[in-house]
Amino acid sequence: MNVSFDYNGKNVLIFGGTSGINLGIAEAYAACGAIVGVVGRNAEKAEVAREAIAAHGGKAFCYTADVRDFEAVTEVYKAFVRDADKIDILVSGAAGNFPAPALGMSPNGFKSVVEIDLLGTFHVLRAGFEYLNVPGASVMNISAPQAMIAMPLQSHVCAAKAGVDMITRTLAIEWGPMGVRVNSVIPGPIDGTEGMARLAPTQKMRDAVEKAVPLQRMGLPSDVADVCLFLGSDAARYVTGVILPADGGAVAAGSAGMGMSSMGH
Ligand code: COA
Repeated sequence: MNVSFDYNGKNVLIFGGTSGINLGIAEAYAACGAIVGVVGRNAEKAEVAREAIAAHGGKAFCYTADVRDFEAVTEVYKAFVRDADKIDILVSGAAGNFPAPALGMSPNGFKSVVEIDLLGTFHVLRAGFEYLNVPGASVMNISAPQAMIAMPLQSHVCAAKAGVDMITRTLAIEWGPMGVRVNSVIPGPIDGTEGMARLAPTQKMRDAVEKAVPLQRMGLPSDVADVCLFLGSDAARYVTGVILPADGGAVAAGSAGMGMSSMGH
Protein backbone atom coordinates (compact mmCIF):
# COMPACT_ATOMS: atom_id res chain seq x y z
CA MET A 1 0.00 0.00 0.00
CA ASN A 2 1.41 3.37 -1.04
CA VAL A 3 -1.32 5.57 0.36
CA SER A 4 -2.67 6.26 3.81
CA PHE A 5 -6.34 6.23 4.80
CA ASP A 6 -7.93 5.81 8.22
CA TYR A 7 -10.76 3.27 8.22
CA ASN A 8 -10.94 2.75 12.00
CA GLY A 9 -14.61 2.47 13.00
CA LYS A 10 -15.69 1.53 9.45
CA ASN A 11 -17.21 -1.78 8.34
CA VAL A 12 -16.48 -3.20 4.90
CA LEU A 13 -18.19 -6.21 3.29
CA ILE A 14 -16.62 -7.70 0.16
CA PHE A 15 -18.39 -10.27 -1.99
CA GLY A 16 -15.80 -12.38 -3.80
CA GLY A 17 -13.29 -11.20 -1.20
CA THR A 18 -11.77 -14.60 -0.51
CA SER A 19 -9.14 -14.52 -3.29
CA GLY A 20 -7.32 -12.51 -5.93
CA ILE A 21 -7.95 -8.82 -6.45
CA ASN A 22 -10.89 -8.76 -4.03
CA LEU A 23 -8.83 -10.31 -1.24
CA GLY A 24 -6.21 -7.61 -1.91
CA ILE A 25 -8.96 -5.02 -1.45
CA ALA A 26 -10.07 -6.68 1.81
CA GLU A 27 -6.48 -6.73 3.11
CA ALA A 28 -6.02 -3.06 2.26
CA TYR A 29 -9.16 -1.95 4.14
CA ALA A 30 -8.21 -4.15 7.11
CA ALA A 31 -4.69 -2.69 7.15
CA CYS A 32 -6.29 0.77 7.41
CA GLY A 33 -8.28 -0.27 10.50
CA ALA A 34 -11.64 -1.39 9.08
CA ILE A 35 -13.61 -4.42 10.24
CA VAL A 36 -13.81 -6.55 7.10
CA GLY A 37 -16.18 -9.32 6.01
CA VAL A 38 -15.21 -11.52 3.07
CA VAL A 39 -17.73 -13.65 1.19
CA GLY A 40 -16.99 -16.56 -1.13
CA ARG A 41 -18.55 -19.73 -2.45
CA ASN A 42 -16.08 -22.02 -0.72
CA ALA A 43 -16.10 -22.14 3.11
CA GLU A 44 -12.52 -23.39 3.46
CA LYS A 45 -11.16 -20.71 1.13
CA ALA A 46 -13.18 -18.09 3.02
CA GLU A 47 -11.67 -19.21 6.34
CA VAL A 48 -8.13 -19.14 4.86
CA ALA A 49 -8.75 -15.57 3.68
CA ARG A 50 -10.08 -14.55 7.10
CA GLU A 51 -7.03 -16.06 8.79
CA ALA A 52 -4.67 -14.29 6.36
CA ILE A 53 -6.25 -10.93 7.21
CA ALA A 54 -6.22 -11.70 10.96
CA ALA A 55 -2.55 -12.79 10.77
CA HIS A 56 -1.70 -9.24 9.72
CA GLY A 57 -3.59 -7.81 12.68
CA GLY A 58 -6.85 -7.15 10.82
CA LYS A 59 -10.35 -7.70 12.18
CA ALA A 60 -12.15 -10.05 9.80
CA PHE A 61 -15.20 -12.28 9.46
CA CYS A 62 -15.92 -14.72 6.66
CA TYR A 63 -19.17 -15.96 5.12
CA THR A 64 -20.24 -18.38 2.43
CA ALA A 65 -22.73 -17.64 -0.36
CA ASP A 66 -23.14 -18.01 -4.09
CA VAL A 67 -24.19 -14.58 -5.37
CA ARG A 68 -26.63 -16.31 -7.75
CA ASP A 69 -28.68 -17.21 -4.66
CA PHE A 70 -30.56 -14.12 -3.39
CA GLU A 71 -31.59 -15.79 -0.12
CA ALA A 72 -28.01 -16.83 0.62
CA VAL A 73 -26.80 -13.28 -0.05
CA THR A 74 -29.46 -11.93 2.32
CA GLU A 75 -28.33 -14.37 5.04
CA VAL A 76 -24.77 -13.02 4.72
CA TYR A 77 -26.01 -9.49 5.42
CA LYS A 78 -27.93 -10.66 8.49
CA ALA A 79 -24.82 -12.42 9.79
CA PHE A 80 -22.51 -9.47 9.10
CA VAL A 81 -24.71 -6.93 10.91
CA ARG A 82 -24.86 -9.36 13.87
CA ASP A 83 -21.05 -9.59 13.86
CA ALA A 84 -20.09 -6.04 12.97
CA ASP A 85 -23.18 -3.79 12.65
CA LYS A 86 -23.99 -1.59 9.63
CA ILE A 87 -21.97 -1.52 6.42
CA ASP A 88 -20.04 1.60 5.46
CA ILE A 89 -18.36 0.19 2.35
CA LEU A 90 -19.86 -2.54 0.15
CA VAL A 91 -17.76 -4.16 -2.58
CA SER A 92 -19.46 -6.42 -5.13
CA GLY A 93 -16.62 -8.37 -6.70
CA ALA A 94 -17.74 -11.96 -7.26
CA ALA A 95 -17.12 -12.95 -10.89
CA GLY A 96 -16.87 -15.94 -13.17
CA ASN A 97 -15.04 -16.31 -16.44
CA PHE A 98 -13.71 -18.80 -18.95
CA PRO A 99 -12.34 -18.09 -22.42
CA ALA A 100 -14.55 -19.52 -25.18
CA PRO A 101 -15.81 -18.37 -28.58
CA ALA A 102 -19.57 -17.81 -28.73
CA LEU A 103 -19.83 -20.80 -31.05
CA GLY A 104 -18.02 -22.95 -28.45
CA MET A 105 -20.26 -21.91 -25.59
CA SER A 106 -23.57 -23.46 -24.60
CA PRO A 107 -26.47 -21.21 -23.59
CA ASN A 108 -25.88 -22.47 -20.05
CA GLY A 109 -22.22 -21.40 -20.17
CA PHE A 110 -23.23 -17.86 -21.19
CA LYS A 111 -25.99 -17.85 -18.58
CA SER A 112 -23.64 -18.98 -15.78
CA VAL A 113 -21.37 -15.97 -16.23
CA VAL A 114 -24.26 -13.51 -16.66
CA GLU A 115 -25.88 -14.93 -13.52
CA ILE A 116 -22.71 -14.60 -11.44
CA ASP A 117 -21.54 -11.21 -12.73
CA LEU A 118 -24.71 -9.30 -13.60
CA LEU A 119 -27.58 -10.89 -11.68
CA GLY A 120 -25.17 -11.46 -8.78
CA THR A 121 -24.34 -7.75 -8.68
CA PHE A 122 -28.05 -6.93 -8.60
CA HIS A 123 -28.57 -9.43 -5.77
CA VAL A 124 -25.68 -8.02 -3.73
CA LEU A 125 -26.82 -4.40 -4.12
CA ARG A 126 -30.56 -5.07 -3.89
CA ALA A 127 -30.28 -7.16 -0.72
CA GLY A 128 -27.55 -4.93 0.72
CA PHE A 129 -29.17 -1.52 0.63
CA GLU A 130 -31.12 -1.88 3.89
CA TYR A 131 -27.92 -2.80 5.74
CA LEU A 132 -25.92 0.22 4.51
CA ASN A 133 -24.98 3.04 6.82
CA VAL A 134 -27.12 5.73 5.17
CA PRO A 135 -26.26 8.49 4.46
CA GLY A 136 -22.56 8.12 3.75
CA ALA A 137 -22.15 4.57 2.48
CA SER A 138 -19.97 3.86 -0.53
CA VAL A 139 -20.70 0.97 -2.91
CA MET A 140 -18.17 -0.36 -5.43
CA ASN A 141 -18.77 -2.81 -8.24
CA ILE A 142 -15.66 -4.53 -9.52
CA SER A 143 -16.06 -4.45 -13.28
CA ALA A 144 -13.59 -5.40 -16.04
CA PRO A 145 -12.04 -3.97 -19.22
CA GLN A 146 -14.48 -6.24 -21.09
CA ALA A 147 -17.22 -3.74 -20.17
CA MET A 148 -15.51 -1.20 -22.44
CA ILE A 149 -13.50 -3.27 -24.94
CA ALA A 150 -15.06 -5.91 -27.18
CA MET A 151 -12.86 -8.96 -26.65
CA PRO A 152 -12.88 -12.23 -28.56
CA LEU A 153 -13.67 -15.31 -26.42
CA GLN A 154 -15.42 -13.05 -23.91
CA SER A 155 -18.93 -12.39 -25.24
CA HIS A 156 -20.48 -13.50 -21.93
CA VAL A 157 -18.19 -11.34 -19.77
CA CYS A 158 -18.40 -8.32 -22.12
CA ALA A 159 -22.20 -8.44 -21.98
CA ALA A 160 -22.33 -9.03 -18.21
CA LYS A 161 -19.79 -6.39 -17.18
CA ALA A 162 -21.25 -3.73 -19.50
CA GLY A 163 -24.51 -4.40 -17.63
CA VAL A 164 -22.74 -4.12 -14.28
CA ASP A 165 -21.46 -0.66 -15.18
CA MET A 166 -24.95 0.45 -16.16
CA ILE A 167 -26.23 -0.79 -12.79
CA THR A 168 -23.51 1.38 -11.23
CA ARG A 169 -24.62 4.46 -13.12
CA THR A 170 -28.33 3.85 -12.62
CA LEU A 171 -28.08 3.25 -8.89
CA ALA A 172 -25.80 6.27 -8.49
CA ILE A 173 -28.81 8.28 -9.69
CA GLU A 174 -31.40 6.37 -7.62
CA TRP A 175 -29.35 6.23 -4.41
CA GLY A 176 -27.55 9.59 -4.63
CA PRO A 177 -30.42 11.50 -2.98
CA MET A 178 -30.18 9.08 -0.04
CA GLY A 179 -26.47 9.78 0.39
CA VAL A 180 -25.13 6.54 -1.08
CA ARG A 181 -22.38 6.68 -3.69
CA VAL A 182 -22.08 3.89 -6.28
CA ASN A 183 -19.00 3.50 -8.49
CA SER A 184 -17.32 0.85 -10.63
CA VAL A 185 -13.63 -0.02 -10.54
CA ILE A 186 -12.10 -1.69 -13.58
CA PRO A 187 -8.98 -3.67 -12.74
CA GLY A 188 -6.67 -4.08 -15.73
CA PRO A 189 -4.59 -7.21 -16.20
CA ILE A 190 -3.56 -8.03 -12.62
CA ASP A 191 -0.63 -10.38 -12.14
CA GLY A 192 -1.04 -13.60 -10.21
CA THR A 193 -4.83 -13.78 -10.41
CA GLU A 194 -6.97 -16.72 -11.54
CA GLY A 195 -8.48 -14.47 -14.20
CA MET A 196 -5.09 -13.65 -15.75
CA ALA A 197 -4.05 -17.30 -15.59
CA ARG A 198 -7.17 -18.16 -17.59
CA LEU A 199 -6.90 -15.31 -20.11
CA ALA A 200 -3.10 -15.32 -20.64
CA PRO A 201 -1.85 -18.81 -19.75
CA THR A 202 1.46 -18.68 -21.74
CA GLN A 203 4.53 -16.45 -21.35
CA LYS A 204 4.03 -15.24 -24.94
CA MET A 205 0.53 -14.08 -24.08
CA ARG A 206 1.72 -12.44 -20.84
CA ASP A 207 4.41 -10.55 -22.81
CA ALA A 208 1.78 -9.40 -25.31
CA VAL A 209 -0.46 -8.16 -22.49
CA GLU A 210 2.41 -6.22 -20.89
CA LYS A 211 3.31 -4.59 -24.22
CA ALA A 212 -0.34 -3.67 -24.77
CA VAL A 213 -0.62 -1.80 -21.46
CA PRO A 214 0.50 1.83 -21.87
CA LEU A 215 2.29 1.73 -18.50
CA GLN A 216 4.08 -1.43 -19.78
CA ARG A 217 3.40 -3.74 -16.86
CA MET A 218 0.70 -5.88 -15.39
CA GLY A 219 -0.97 -4.48 -12.32
CA LEU A 220 -0.75 -5.61 -8.71
CA PRO A 221 -3.75 -6.19 -6.45
CA SER A 222 -2.58 -3.13 -4.47
CA ASP A 223 -2.93 -0.94 -7.60
CA VAL A 224 -6.66 -1.70 -7.51
CA ALA A 225 -6.99 -1.72 -3.72
CA ASP A 226 -5.57 1.79 -3.42
CA VAL A 227 -8.27 3.07 -5.80
CA CYS A 228 -10.91 1.35 -3.64
CA LEU A 229 -9.45 3.00 -0.53
CA PHE A 230 -9.88 6.34 -2.28
CA LEU A 231 -13.46 5.63 -3.42
CA GLY A 232 -14.51 4.50 0.06
CA SER A 233 -13.04 7.58 1.70
CA ASP A 234 -14.18 11.13 2.29
CA ALA A 235 -11.72 12.22 -0.39
CA ALA A 236 -14.24 10.78 -2.89
CA ARG A 237 -17.30 12.35 -1.23
CA TYR A 238 -18.41 14.03 -4.49
CA VAL A 239 -17.63 11.05 -6.75
CA THR A 240 -20.50 8.80 -7.82
CA GLY A 241 -21.65 7.07 -11.00
CA VAL A 242 -18.04 6.79 -12.15
CA ILE A 243 -16.46 3.88 -14.02
CA LEU A 244 -12.84 4.13 -12.87
CA PRO A 245 -10.17 1.98 -14.51
CA ALA A 246 -7.10 1.04 -12.46
CA ASP A 247 -5.45 -0.53 -15.46
CA GLY A 248 -2.26 1.21 -16.55
CA GLY A 249 -4.20 2.68 -19.49
CA ALA A 250 -5.36 -0.67 -20.90
CA VAL A 251 -8.92 0.50 -21.51
CA ALA A 252 -7.69 3.67 -23.21
CA ALA A 253 -5.54 1.51 -25.52
CA GLY A 254 -8.67 -0.49 -26.31
CA SER A 255 -8.84 -3.33 -28.77
CA ALA A 256 -5.42 -2.41 -30.16
CA GLY A 257 -4.08 -3.99 -27.00
CA MET A 258 -5.83 -6.44 -24.78
CA GLY A 259 -8.48 -7.71 -27.17
CA MET A 260 -6.03 -9.17 -29.64
CA SER A 261 -3.56 -10.37 -27.02
CA SER A 262 -6.27 -12.57 -25.53
CA MET A 263 -6.31 -14.38 -28.87
CA GLY A 264 -2.58 -15.07 -28.58
CA HIS A 265 -1.49 -12.67 -31.37
N1 COA B 1 -15.67 -23.44 -22.33
C1 COA B 1 -16.98 -23.57 -22.68
N2 COA B 1 -17.99 -23.76 -21.77
C2 COA B 1 -17.65 -23.81 -20.46
C3 COA B 1 -16.30 -23.67 -20.02
C4 COA B 1 -15.30 -23.49 -21.02
N3 COA B 1 -14.01 -23.34 -20.70
N4 COA B 1 -16.29 -23.76 -18.66
C5 COA B 1 -17.56 -23.93 -18.26
N5 COA B 1 -18.38 -23.94 -19.34
C6 COA B 1 -19.83 -24.19 -19.34
C7 COA B 1 -20.14 -25.59 -18.89
O1 COA B 1 -19.97 -26.52 -19.93
C8 COA B 1 -21.59 -25.45 -18.45
O2 COA B 1 -22.47 -25.46 -19.55
P1 COA B 1 -23.32 -26.84 -19.92
O3 COA B 1 -24.16 -27.14 -18.71
O4 COA B 1 -24.13 -26.45 -21.11
O5 COA B 1 -22.30 -27.88 -20.20
C9 COA B 1 -21.65 -24.03 -17.91
O6 COA B 1 -20.48 -23.35 -18.41
C10 COA B 1 -21.63 -24.00 -16.42
O7 COA B 1 -20.50 -24.72 -15.99
P2 COA B 1 -20.34 -25.20 -14.48
O8 COA B 1 -18.93 -25.60 -14.25
O9 COA B 1 -21.41 -26.17 -14.16
O10 COA B 1 -20.72 -23.86 -13.73
P3 COA B 1 -20.34 -23.34 -12.33
O11 COA B 1 -21.50 -22.56 -11.90
O12 COA B 1 -19.85 -24.41 -11.43
O13 COA B 1 -19.07 -22.40 -12.64
C11 COA B 1 -18.08 -20.84 -14.16
C12 COA B 1 -19.18 -21.12 -13.18
C13 COA B 1 -18.41 -21.54 -15.46
C14 COA B 1 -18.03 -19.32 -14.41
C15 COA B 1 -16.71 -21.31 -13.68
O14 COA B 1 -15.74 -20.97 -14.65
C16 COA B 1 -16.34 -20.76 -12.33
O15 COA B 1 -16.70 -21.34 -11.31
N6 COA B 1 -15.62 -19.66 -12.25
C17 COA B 1 -15.31 -19.02 -10.96
C18 COA B 1 -13.92 -18.63 -10.87
C19 COA B 1 -13.52 -17.69 -11.95
O16 COA B 1 -14.04 -17.72 -13.04
N7 COA B 1 -12.59 -16.83 -11.66
C20 COA B 1 -12.11 -15.86 -12.59
C21 COA B 1 -12.79 -14.59 -12.32
S1 COA B 1 -12.28 -13.36 -13.52
